[in-house]
Amino acid sequence: MRSLLGDYLLQRLQQDIEGTLHQRLFRCLRYAIVEGVLAPKTRLPASRDLAKEIGVSRNTVLSTYEQLQAEGYVEARTGHGTWVVEKLPESFLTTLANRGKHQETQSLSKNYVLSQRGSSIVGYAAASPNQWGAFVPGAPDVTEFPHHVFSRIQAKLSREPDVNRLIYSNAGGCVELRHALADYLKIARSVQCDADQIIITEGTHQAIDLVSRALSDIGDQVWIEDPAYWGMRNILRINGVNIRALAIDEEGIIPELHPKTPPKLIFVTPSHQYPLGSHLSPARRKQLLQIARQHGSWIIEDDYDSEFRFSGQPYPSLQGLEPDAPVIYMGTFSKTIYPALRLGYLVVPKQLFSPLRIVAAELYRGGHLLVQKALAEFIREGHYEAHIRRMRLLYAKRYHFLMQLIQRYLGPDFIHEYNSAAGLHLILKLPTHCDDVAIATNALQRGVTVRALSQYYMHSHARAQRGLLLGFACVDEKDMMMAFGVLLQCLREAGVLTL
Ligand SMILES: Cc1ncc(COP(=O)(O)O)c(C=O)c1O
Repeated sequence: MRSLLGDYLLQRLQQDIEGTLHQRLFRCLRYAIVEGVLAPKTRLPASRDLAKEIGVSRNTVLSTYEQLQAEGYVEARTGHGTWVVEKLPESFLTTLANRGKHQETQSLSKNYVLSQRGSSIVGYAAASPNQWGAFVPGAPDVTEFPHHVFSRIQAKLSREPDVNRLIYSNAGGCVELRHALADYLKIARSVQCDADQIIITEGTHQAIDLVSRALSDIGDQVWIEDPAYWGMRNILRINGVNIRALAIDEEGIIPELHPKTPPKLIFVTPSHQYPLGSHLSPARRKQLLQIARQHGSWIIEDDYDSEFRFSGQPYPSLQGLEPDAPVIYMGTFSKTIYPALRLGYLVVPKQLFSPLRIVAAELYRGGHLLVQKALAEFIREGHYEAHIRRMRLLYAKRYHFLMQLIQRYLGPDFIHEYNSAAGLHLILKLPTHCDDVAIATNALQRGVTVRALSQYYMHSHARAQRGLLLGFACVDEKDMMMAFGVLLQCLREAGVLTL
């Protein structure tokens, strides 16, 4: 019987018809490795077996294995076969992506004759290979979540299977979760809403996709902040809108007061500008709402981490500022619970609920209703708020610890002026001549994940500030000390003065 890998390669080889058999097999195997079909530390089949399975000569397989080894995808262990390496050469691509050094991804997309849209996603891909550890920005401490409580609720619900939770969701998500969220958001975020304005999504990424597909057309003008979250920018790119990136200052986005082409959509992070951290001032909030009302635009408020403000009062949402505000509010459980839960939500004006619910059902065929129901109970029983309160204290401690390290070893000039005691990351400011991408790449190679601030800008232009995003929420003090030491070394090597 043929192995799964044999089946996979035979299908791929039928699609990849350019060049010699050796070249085609090399590309197919490399793709399998990069895509994780062959996971790190997996043993490749013996060359004789693979050759027999897919009907090629053993020499073709041997020379392919040799090329994979030469390019760093596999390693041969004498007498023990050929193994996929633990750390792929592609791992460093993400930090290099915006610098035009992504020939590898480009050649990958060429090899597989991707559409222009597909190639563009590969070219702009920015998700880090590392999603955990010092200093991954935006990662909550997933080990602190009360998994036992959540799984007890899930187990109880699984024992009483309800047909309504096992079919496609057509109603904008689990109704109990929508009710629990409406009650929570009214109090915690001053959002004006009822359950019949809430649509559950599989996270913010899906919510952005839904809103941009349902409310804008190809070529429409869409405003975003500059810098902004790369994930949002890439979804907008793929949906073909005309992105206009507006500068931000200490009061948040600086809107165009008399735009020649009015925006259809305006994406903002009013409570905690991503990634710099400023807060949209009351005057700017009013301005933005006025512009949106005047031109019939929708403001999309991404309220991704405002549960985590460590001092003072939380800023209320923009959505709740005025009755019938032209605002779509977007939230996520990725920061308060854990990212792999893939749950987020939209609060939409009443007239948009029905059409957006239908578009969501047509595009994504919603599901995961049992998990949603479990989450509703988790919130109703008070565990959600208790967890947030506990994490707020923990992250505050880690935030202050990291700030002290920066003060002590680098000095106040390295603390960005928009940093506030909030969120899951802060900005380490670097002098304007610094190559923050090179520093981030160097740190990544030494096992410390930091992201270069300049890459969060739409274009590399003079306005792009240099700095590093340091996530502190998922790192305890001991690991933070060690990782900070590595980072200091990288800064020294880059010629940045340290105290
Ligand atoms: C600004 C911003 N919004 C939203 C999210 C969360 O996205 P999701 O809900 O798809 O996990 C992130 C994740 O890093 C983010 O940085």
